[in-house]
Amino acid sequence: MITASELRQKYLDFFTKVGHVAVPSSPLVPENDPTTLFTGSGMQPMITYLLGAKHPNGDKIVDSQKCFRSQDIEEVGDNRHTTFFEMLGNWSLGDYFKKEQLNWYFDFLTDELGLDPQKLFVTVYEGNEDLGIPKDEEAIGIWKEIFATKGIEAKVLDNAEKHGLKDGRIFPYGDNNWWSRAGAPQNMPIGEPGGPDSEVFYDLGTEAGLHEKSIWKDQLCHVNCDCGRFLEIGNSVFMQYQKTDKGFEVLPQKNIDFGGGLERTLTVVRGTNDVFETDLFTPIIEVLEKISGKKYLDEPESFRVIADHVKAAVMLITDGVFPSNKDQGYYVRRLLRRAIRYGKKMGIGEAFLGKLVPSIVVIYADFYQQVEAKQATITEVLNQEEKKFLRTLEKGLREFEKSTQKTSELTAELAFTLYETYGFPVELSLEEAESQKLSIQKNLENKFQVIKKEHADLSRTASVGKFKGGLQDHSEVTVKYHTATHLIHSALRKVLGKEVSQKGSNITGKRLRFDFSHPQAVTKDELKQVEDQVNKWIAVDYPVTKISMQKQSALKAGALAFFVEKYPEEVTVYTVGLDEENDWVSKELCGGPHVESTGKIGSIEIFKEKAVSAGVRRVYARVRPE
Ligand code: ALA
Repeated sequence: MITASELRQKYLDFFTKVGHVAVPSSPLVPENDPTTLFTGSGMQPMITYLLGAKHPNGDKIVDSQKCFRSQDIEEVGDNRHTTFFEMLGNWSLGDYFKKEQLNWYFDFLTDELGLDPQKLFVTVYEGNEDLGIPKDEEAIGIWKEIFATKGIEAKVLDNAEKHGLKDGRIFPYGDNNWWSRAGAPQNMPIGEPGGPDSEVFYDLGTEAGLHEKSIWKDQLCHVNCDCGRFLEIGNSVFMQYQKTDKGFEVLPQKNIDFGGGLERTLTVVRGTNDVFETDLFTPIIEVLEKISGKKYLDEPESFRVIADHVKAAVMLITDGVFPSNKDQGYYVRRLLRRAIRYGKKMGIGEAFLGKLVPSIVVIYADFYQQVEAKQATITEVLNQEEKKFLRTLEKGLREFEKSTQKTSELTAELAFTLYETYGFPVELSLEEAESQKLSIQKNLENKFQVIKKEHADLSRTASVGKFKGGLQDHSEVTVKYHTATHLIHSALRKVLGKEVSQKGSNITGKRLRFDFSHPQAVTKDELKQVEDQVNKWIAVDYPVTKISMQKQSALKAGALAFFVEKYPEEVTVYTVGLDEENDWVSKELCGGPHVESTGKIGSIEIFKEKAVSAGVRRVYARVRPE
C-alpha cells in the first residue's frame, strides 16, 4: 500500500515530468508578512509571484507546503479536519491555465493513483452578476470532456444545496467556489488577487460518518454539506482577478493555484474514510493506544484531537514557535493544553506528550529532517509545558476542594467561578465532583454555557457608572474601540518604552483618541510598528477576561491604572491574553465594557499623531471597515 512519503514524491514527480520545478516548503510562520500569523495555504508564500514578480525557479512550480490553520482547532475530531496539514501545490505563474490544469490533475488522480473516476465529483463557480463575473462555463466544458474519456456522462446540477446530489456530477456553487486570502469576492480588500475555483470531491460512501459528530444527511446530502460522506481532496484556483477601486479587473497574467491535501488524498488512495487511519497518523495513535490502554475506535474523537494537536505543536516548534501567552506561541500552548485535557478525559494519569514525539519523527524523518534534528529540544519543550499546565490544574483543584468543603452539590455557578478565576475547565470540575461523590446540578453543562454567555454579554454591555473611561455609549463599535485603546496603550509601551503612560482617552463611533506621555514626536516607523503589533494581537484572537480584586493587589500584579487614586478599593481588572506569570498582552484597571476576544475588533489603522502639550502626544486610530 502506498505510503505518505511515496504519495508526496509521486505528486512532485508527476508535475516535474510535465515541466514544473519542485521547490521546498516555506516555514509555518510567514516570512515578512505581518498580516498573518501562520502559513495556512500554499498560496501565501507565492503571493508576490501571482501578482507578477518573477519566481527564481520559473513560471511552473510544484511543492508540498506545510500549513497550519488555527481557526480549525475546534473542528478537529471528525474524519477529516486537521490543524496541521500539507498542501500539495502546483503553480502556473502566467503560463498554462484551466484546460491543462484540470486534465493533469484528473490524470494524476485516476491514472497515476488509480482512483475510481465514478467516485469523483466536482464543483465550479456559478458566477455573480452583481460583480460582473460570469458562471464558469469553460471549466464545465472541460470537465465534461474529461469525464467522457472515462465513459462517464457528467451532468451539471445547479442548486445542489436544495436538491441534493441527484444524478449530478458537476455542481456550480457561489462563494464556496471563489478563492482569495480574504474569502468571498465582496470581502476582498483593494489590491487582493482572487478567482473562481473548481474543487474535486471523493465519495467515501454513506458509512463515512459512523464515528462522527456529523453523520450522513440522507437524500439531501450534497458535496458541500459537510456530513462526512464527501471529502474535498483538491482545489484548482483560476487566479485571474484583482480587486480594484472600480471592481474586479483581470490580472495581467492568468495563474493557477492548485492546492490538494496530502492527508486527504492519502486517505482515499488507501481506501479508508478516515484521515487518521493513514500512516500520517497511525504511528501516533498506536503509541497513544499503549499509553491509554484504550482502542482508537472506543474514543476516536479524543485520539484524533490529541494526535492532531501534538503533531501540529511539534511542527510549529520545529519552525521556531515555542509555547507562550503571546502571538504564534499562544496557539502552541493552546494545542498542548487541549491535548492534555483530552488525555485526562481518556484516563491518562501521567505525563505523556513527550512520549509521542518519536512517532511524529518517524512520520516526517525523510521529508522534514529538521523534526528529527530538533527532537531533543521538542521533547524538552513538551515536557516542561505539560508540567506547567499540570501545576495550573493542581491549583484549580485545590480551589475546587476549598469551595466544595461546605457544599454537597456542584452547581453551574461554582463551576463557572472556578473556570473564570482559575482557568479550571468545566469538564474537570465535573470529573472531580464525580470522584468526590458530590451531587451535580441538573443540566450543569448547559447552564454553565448559559452563564458563560450571559457573563460575556454583560461585560460587553454592563453600565459602568463613573468609571466609563471616556466611553460615550456602549454600542458594539465603541466597545471595539475601547478594547483597541487598551491594545494601543500596551503596544505603545512595547515600542516606545515603559515610560509611556496614559494621559487621556476619548472614543466616538468613528475613531479613538489616546493621549500619552512621550518626550518627542512618534516617527512614522514607530507608528507602523504599533499598528502592526495591535493588529497581530487582534489576529491571535486573545480572550479578554474580567475579574474583581483589591486595588493594591491589582497594581501589584502589574495592572495599569489611569489616575490610580480615582479608583475604589475593589476594582475590576481587564486582562487581554492568558492571565499567567506576568505574561499577558494588557492588564488595566477599568470599568469596561470590552469585547469577548480581540478578534472581534477586526483590524485598526493609526491615521494621525500630534503634540498635545509639552511631553504629551496624541494618536488617532480607527477600526477598518469589515
Ligand atoms: N489556495 C487554494 C486553497 O487553499 C488552493 O484551497
